[in-house]
Amino acid sequence: MEPRTIRLHDCEFSTYIFEEEIIARITMLAEKIDTDYQHKKPLFLAVLNGSFMFAADLLKRVSVPCEIAFIRLSSYQDMNSTGKVKEVLGLTENIEDRHIVILEDIVDTGHTVHGLLQKLAEQKPASVEVATLLMKPECLQHELAVKYVARTIPNDFVVGYGLDYNGLGRNLRDIYKIVS
Ligand code: IMP
Repeated sequence: MEPRTIRLHDCEFSTYIFEEEIIARITMLAEKIDTDYQHKKPLFLAVLNGSFMFAADLLKRVSVPCEIAFIRLSSYQDMNSTGKVKEVLGLTENIEDRHIVILEDIVDTGHTVHGLLQKLAEQKPASVEVATLLMKPECLQHELAVKYVARTIPNDFVVGYGLDYNGLGRNLRDIYKIVS
């Protein structure tokens, strides 16, 4: 595949993970989820905005009966340093005794997922697992069991396939890595 570079705001990015690889990895995740969730009717909670493409491509490939809801998180002042999720917005479903699968674009420090897991636990779901498109294990600051990871990456800033740099880049079908 021909490498491409793009400019978003003041930064340059080059192609890193192509759409074909993304879809192949998502297909493998969907197969695992199908095996693990037979007769469990999972409820997927896709965390907006970043997970919209991942959620769509994953759910097209999951064949067990399931439901999906799209949530947003509001946080205390500086979630990046506290990890405190104040509110889960858009969750109208009753999750008590449900099997929940959180869908995330990327797990970096793990603050977001850690905070969300704490919030969801208050509502007594039967189980909660996390499925993420990308994970940066070097950056993780919490003991998190992330069961479904499509791809691990080093500590590089990436955009595309739902991920943004200050609002731009979410529409890109491949994932790009920052070069400068
Ligand atoms: P956390 O550090 O695991 O809480 O990640 C928080 C959020 O930061 C993710 O859901 C993404 O929206 C964003 N994020 C982390 N790393 C990147 C990246 O490399 N590119 C774009 N967004 C990122």
